[in-house]
Amino acid sequence: MQDSDIPLTEGMTMTFSIGIVGAGQFGSQFAHLFNLHPGVDAVYVVDERPERAADAVARYNLAGQEADFDALLASDVDAVAIFTQRWTHGPLVEQALRAGKHVYSAVPMAVSEDEIARIIDAVRDTGNVYMMGETSYYNPATVYAREQHAAGKFGRIFYSEGDYVHDMDLGFYDAYQYSGGERWKETASYPPMLYPTHAIGGVLGAIPSHAVSVSCIGVRDQRNDGVFDKDISMFSNDFSNATALFELNDGGAMRTNEMRRVGYPSHIRESRFRFFGTEASFEQARQGYRLAGQAKRPGHLGADGDPPQHSPGRPVAGQRRPGGSATPLSRASPLSMMPNGCPRSSWVPPMDTKAATTSWWTISLQP
Ligand SMILES: NC(=O)c1ccc[n+]([C@@H]2O[C@H](COP(=O)([O-])OP(=O)(O)OC[C@H]3O[C@@H](n4cnc5c(N)ncnc54)[C@H](O)[C@@H]3O)[C@@H](O)[C@H]2O)c1
Repeated sequence: MQDSDIPLTEGMTMTFSIGIVGAGQFGSQFAHLFNLHPGVDAVYVVDERPERAADAVARYNLAGQEADFDALLASDVDAVAIFTQRWTHGPLVEQALRAGKHVYSAVPMAVSEDEIARIIDAVRDTGNVYMMGETSYYNPATVYAREQHAAGKFGRIFYSEGDYVHDMDLGFYDAYQYSGGERWKETASYPPMLYPTHAIGGVLGAIPSHAVSVSCIGVRDQRNDGVFDKDISMFSNDFSNATALFELNDGGAMRTNEMRRVGYPSHIRESRFRFFGTEASFEQARQGYRLAGQAKRPGHLGADGDPPQHSPGRPVAGQRRPGGSATPLSRASPLSMMPNGCPRSSWVPPMDTKAATTSWWTISLQP
């Protein structure tokens, strides 16, 4: 590590170098971000497809490229960040820890209990740091719920929900083909519940607890296009949607959904969170509302301010119930989005630019 005149925190000036493993769709973006970070003094890249690493080095003006993973571990980088395909992380993380590196990996941490146990052992043995980078920890809804819970506003949260609702048609076919080659269907069947982190991470990132038991129901796929086909899948998986109910260590319950075949505007809000507490509850309310199947393709949602299309007589968040006057939801009119009986003071403004274009969040006090 090198000293620098850039303070990370008060009194701390140390920087470190990092090696990115996997310069694909996600990793190359992180190579760029790490390179911009004042705490990072050099970013190296390695990829099984060397042209991808070379492209990232040139595009983001990185420090350089290593020949392969072993060469990176033999180099003097302080840390490695692993962005290889989702089922590959466990052994790479363990190997890097034992090679003396601090390790960050994209989610998931690993795909079996044995792999996870081996990583924990490697951290204990080496004293090196391992971090799993679950992005929903920074989801505005999760950040807000975390702050409110820490302030005691919820009372006891006894029930929570976290869903990751992302239809395969919304980008996943292309994403798997990018590295999957002609055999991409073998990997596109990746079991939804082996990647539950964007759903449960947003819940457990807000309430300090962990699961102690689970019951899960998988829904078998019916599209018959070779994805989620047991005979083709390298995971022998034919479940495309799954729902699980967890018991938490604090006695509460958490439900989650991982959906890959679903008529839902996933590109607008693929992670959804809901918390019920004894004193207050929190849920995300979408700006608009469309019937399932209408909103799968980008462009179907209409411009900001468009009146939402909805099923007449079916109550949704932000609308009056049948018999009342239905008020179109509009970003410019938060008052019109309040559910019946919700006091105005309980509504909060959008958290950031993204939130402002997609959702409002509320913490509603118990009547
Ligand atoms: N929001 C999020 O947290 C989020 C979003 C997208 C992707 N991800 C995660 O990021 C990871 C990468 O996803 P992606 O879409 O970029 O995949 P990708 O297929 O685009 O890229 C993976 C790259 O890793 C390379 N690679 C594989 N094994 C390697 C090895 N042993 N040594 C060197 N290079 C190797 C491949 O050649 C490929 O270029 C996945 O684990 C995924 O779950 C997380």
